[in-house]
Amino acid sequence: MSHRKLSRREFGRAVSAAFGAAVLAPRLVEAARRPRGVPENVIQLNSNENPYGPSPHALDAMTEAQQVAARYPDALEDLVVEAIAKGHGVQPENVILGCGSGEILRMADLAFLGPEKNLVVAEPTFEAVLSYAEVTRAKPVKIPLTADHRHDLPRMAAACNENTGLVYLCNPNNPTGTIVTRDEMESFFARVPRTAIVLVDEAYHHFVEDPRYTSALAWWGRVPNLVIVRTFSKIYGMAGMRLGYAVAAREHIAALRRHRLFNNANAAVLQAALASLEDTKHVERHRKLNNETRRWVCAELERDGRRYIPSETNFVMVHVGQDVTPVIEAFRKRHILVGRKFPSLPDWLRVSIGTRKEMEVFLAALREIVPSRAAAA
Ligand SMILES: Cc1ncc(COP(=O)(O)O)c(C=O)c1O
Repeated sequence: MSHRKLSRREFGRAVSAAFGAAVLAPRLVEAARRPRGVPENVIQLNSNENPYGPSPHALDAMTEAQQVAARYPDALEDLVVEAIAKGHGVQPENVILGCGSGEILRMADLAFLGPEKNLVVAEPTFEAVLSYAEVTRAKPVKIPLTADHRHDLPRMAAACNENTGLVYLCNPNNPTGTIVTRDEMESFFARVPRTAIVLVDEAYHHFVEDPRYTSALAWWGRVPNLVIVRTFSKIYGMAGMRLGYAVAAREHIAALRRHRLFNNANAAVLQAALASLEDTKHVERHRKLNNETRRWVCAELERDGRRYIPSETNFVMVHVGQDVTPVIEAFRKRHILVGRKFPSLPDWLRVSIGTRKEMEVFLAALREIVPSRAAAA
């Protein structure tokens, strides 16, 4: 069964009928398809999304979700949890879903931190875990990256003590795109106290090709204080649909569950997730497309004599040799969204890898905004 798409006018009428007034003009509906305050025809290279979108099977599954939309999605949730558990060789009791992996990070802060606890993180890294920790009033302990922009795991391990509630490892790291290797992780786990939860955020796992990398799932069963987090927002192309999950020991899942909203995953995304997990070819295709485009972008950057941080993800940090804020603004004026600023790397620009065509536009704009001699300075 499929529903006819409403025209803008019909949508406007339906909303007016429901609310007794024209609360949403069609213009606003159109604008809602873009980030806030952004003009039409923008190229979005600022949030590390997948420019190719979800698997066609996931799109079909979302359409079919009309059939289950009226009911709470508990049974679907069980199916997705089972599918994830099976895929990772763990039990359903070791899996929890989140409204995006962002919700899992928040649950982890609430579950494992508090005013007496500290949170050990790299600087810079993905900030969500730090910002949610403000609510718990946990003390952040920020360990700068190494000179080659990688996690300094020996220093992070040394920073952990009996007050450490949570250690956040983003592997690969956002915003640098660098990885923690298998050997580094092994020594880290040997040193870190078992009382500290180690959360490994693997949002960009599927893009990695470096053979020295492995998922933290390799330590499953050996390291009890491990929480591994994944998302459907990146390789699966469903950032707008909101689904993520964690794999952890039963007691840690139970601790996270106390802070979770009931039915935090909607029926449409659950159906789409099941279809996505089955479509392994889609994952392969998108890894290849992304990584080929990234390699081409990096070759162009090199040709221009620019510095960049070699990346294993769907984004790259490019050195711009000046404060990045006006650079981001100059891109914005050209209808290209890039970056945000990472305060400890103020003269670096993070650009997400879009389609080849989008990256051609990006490079042309970069050459105008930051001539390469200026960037190399
Ligand atoms: C490292 C990392 N973790 C988690 C997230 C949150 O993703 P989501 O909430 O869409 O799953 C992001 C988003 O960019 C990210 O970069």
